[in-house]
Amino acid sequence: MTIQTISTRAFDGQKPGTSGLRKKVTVFQQPHYLENFVQAVFDTVPLAGATLVLGGDGRFHNRVAVDTIVRMAAANGVARVLVGQGGLLSTPAVSCVIRKHGADGGIILSASHNPGGPDGDFGIKYNIGNGGPAPEKITDAIYAATQTITEYRIVESAEFDLDALGRYSVGDMIVDVIDPVDDYAELMQQLFDFDAIRAWFAAGHTLHFDAMSAASGPYATRLLEGLLGAPAGSVVNGVPLEDFGGHHPDPNPAHATDLIDAMRGNSAPDFGAASDGDADRNMVVGRKHNVSPSDSLAVLAANATLIPGYAKGLAGVARSMPTSCAVDVVAKELGIECFETPTGWKFFGNLLDAGKVTLCGEESYGTGSDHVREKDGVWAVLCWLNLVATSGKSIDELLEAHWAHFGRHYYSRHDFEAIDTAAANALVDGLRAKLPILVGSELAGKRIALADDFAYDDPIDHSHSAKQGIRIVFDDGARIVYRLSGTGTDGATLRVYLEQPERERLDLDAQEALAPLIAASRELADIKGLTGREVPTVVT
Ligand code: G6P
Ligand code: ZN
Repeated sequence: MTIQTISTRAFDGQKPGTSGLRKKVTVFQQPHYLENFVQAVFDTVPLAGATLVLGGDGRFHNRVAVDTIVRMAAANGVARVLVGQGGLLSTPAVSCVIRKHGADGGIILSASHNPGGPDGDFGIKYNIGNGGPAPEKITDAIYAATQTITEYRIVESAEFDLDALGRYSVGDMIVDVIDPVDDYAELMQQLFDFDAIRAWFAAGHTLHFDAMSAASGPYATRLLEGLLGAPAGSVVNGVPLEDFGGHHPDPNPAHATDLIDAMRGNSAPDFGAASDGDADRNMVVGRKHNVSPSDSLAVLAANATLIPGYAKGLAGVARSMPTSCAVDVVAKELGIECFETPTGWKFFGNLLDAGKVTLCGEESYGTGSDHVREKDGVWAVLCWLNLVATSGKSIDELLEAHWAHFGRHYYSRHDFEAIDTAAANALVDGLRAKLPILVGSELAGKRIALADDFAYDDPIDHSHSAKQGIRIVFDDGARIVYRLSGTGTDGATLRVYLEQPERERLDLDAQEALAPLIAASRELADIKGLTGREVPTVVT
């Protein structure tokens, strides 16, 4: 097998964002574009002789990229690649397979919840041996390598059948085409009370799980309809499609509208859920309420001991800074530590590895635990199913009981998408300049207690991450947070996060409860003046 050394020139902008390198498919289709990034990974992380896990969410370009990466792995001396059949592995399944098989790392091909197809997005990310996303020091080094690259190594062809399970040789390298679901399904059976959930379905309860024509389909079908006995047809859009059926595979009230409609109808099922492109996000929906991700984390933390895998209690919890403080209140009552990290699952890795936290979550529809090192959509749905099945309460009852006990944190995120990048930067710079004079002043009829640009010192590796979002905190605990997204591919996206804690009035509409903060957030940042936008593109 001949190894070819191909001359190449660096591309601009191969800097991984919040979660890997994400660009339009057409950008990835440029000759050498993917190859440069993959060689930069091999040049940064010592993977000669290593075992790698490889798979993606099945979106357009997934199979082409799998073939290229297998050929480059062989040329770079990798000993063994475990690849999901058809090139498919959900993001949490990659994490699970890395950990179970003691692999040295993995490559995930996904642009998560971004639309797919030839005009959509593609993405690639490197995960380390703990199963989680590479920390910033590695992604920075990979980026540096992309800027100086002059050649990459690849073998001419790799003869193996990506669709047939089994072991193949590509030169000296072993390629194992594995079932994408087996290892993951086994892990789920160790964590949850399958008998209780089976009994719940056997008693006639119903579920609507929208896999959004993306990666969670095979996992949800095997676990929910197969092992747990949910009625056939409970999983809808369960076959992964290269363009996700033309939809935006993002499980939130703005994009999973079919699910919300199904849950509000007269013959609504008992339990509604959805997952995103690569199956790491989740949304849980009751007949009355959509569970906000921040509330989901708080409810799971408060009730975790009802789930066998967490019966011993939680070591601690963590949330990203913009996520609501609902879980902080639970942590306080439980007497456990609550960590506040920057946006991005990679920041949870050290805390999980050190045994400091058991559960973590983000406002961006991500919830997870120490069972893997990624957020996990199907796992989160099984958590809620386990709680519903063993408590005898519905999703709405669990949520309302939680609010009655801990108070409610009204929460919403307003996104201004595809705005001019210079305007977005000017807006954030303007806010930064105002920070010193804000503390002590009045806004939205309340006093500002803290105004800063969030920075994080990792308690384990002591790395410092600055400029992680502008935080305005009021003395009643309300917050306005501004951040620019690190996952978009079109101009800039301004995210405005709004939170209002409330002890008494628990049944308001979130947008109504947040109205004064919403108005103040627009005025303080002069969103209209600087971006020309009066209203957000997406409200979740
Ligand atoms: C991905 C990451 C999350 C992050 C989310 C939003 O799902 O895995 O960790 O919270 O994107 O990131 P963004 O930078 O777009 O707000
Ligand atoms: Zn995702």
